[in-house]
Amino acid sequence: MINEKIQNVLSRLEKDIDYENNHRSEVPSEERLNCISKNIGMFYNIMLKSINAKKILEIGMSVGYSGLWFADAVMSSTQSDGQIITIDREKFKIDQATQNFDEAGVSSLIKIREGEARKILHEIKEEFGENYFDFIFIDADKESYIEYFDLCLPLVRKGGIIGADNILFPERFNEMMTDYLSHVRSNPNVQSVTVPIDNGEEITFKL
Ligand SMILES: C[S@@+](CC[C@H](N)C(=O)[O-])C[C@H]1O[C@@H](n2cnc3c(N)ncnc32)[C@H](O)[C@@H]1O
Repeated sequence: MINEKIQNVLSRLEKDIDYENNHRSEVPSEERLNCISKNIGMFYNIMLKSINAKKILEIGMSVGYSGLWFADAVMSSTQSDGQIITIDREKFKIDQATQNFDEAGVSSLIKIREGEARKILHEIKEEFGENYFDFIFIDADKESYIEYFDLCLPLVRKGGIIGADNILFPERFNEMMTDYLSHVRSNPNVQSVTVPIDNGEEITFKL
């Protein structure tokens, strides 16, 4: 069961996402939301509830669609000490996400960090230290996935998970994703598998 206020915002956003998917050529690339699918949202929601995730970091927020699925999972596992930090550099997406989080009643749970992900990840390491997060989601510029993974691995606790989107689709990312997978899977401190739902998620467990 998804929190009712969150579900209402998710349903509204799904209409925009469907429109974008069905009229891709009409939506300028800089205005595209590029959100995860509903199936992937549900997948992470169940996974996060299963690991009782309370502290989450997201790289690449867009208008907050994935963040809302995370928020529902965190709220179901804790009433007080949950925390989601989400990063984006696009002002218009940040404005929309702020409104969406407000409408969904999760503004106190989700903190938006505006700016370049790389810089913010270094700040977060200083602020929170190592082994802090239960789950980190990588969903920003694909060419930086390996760098983000290396910055994120110390930040996630043992037994925590790093998820990465777009492992299988769109195909234009395939080469970068192949490099990402070989980088991740050559690390002896993780166990990793691709879950072939929609665009494909790499689920990496920190040993
Ligand atoms: C695929 S979208 C994120 C979708 C979101 N996770 C969801 O499913 O609802 C990627 C987002 O990452 C942001 N982004 C890309 N590169 C970035 C960077 N280097 N620093 C900060 N944000 C970045 C973009 O502005 C965009 O909103």
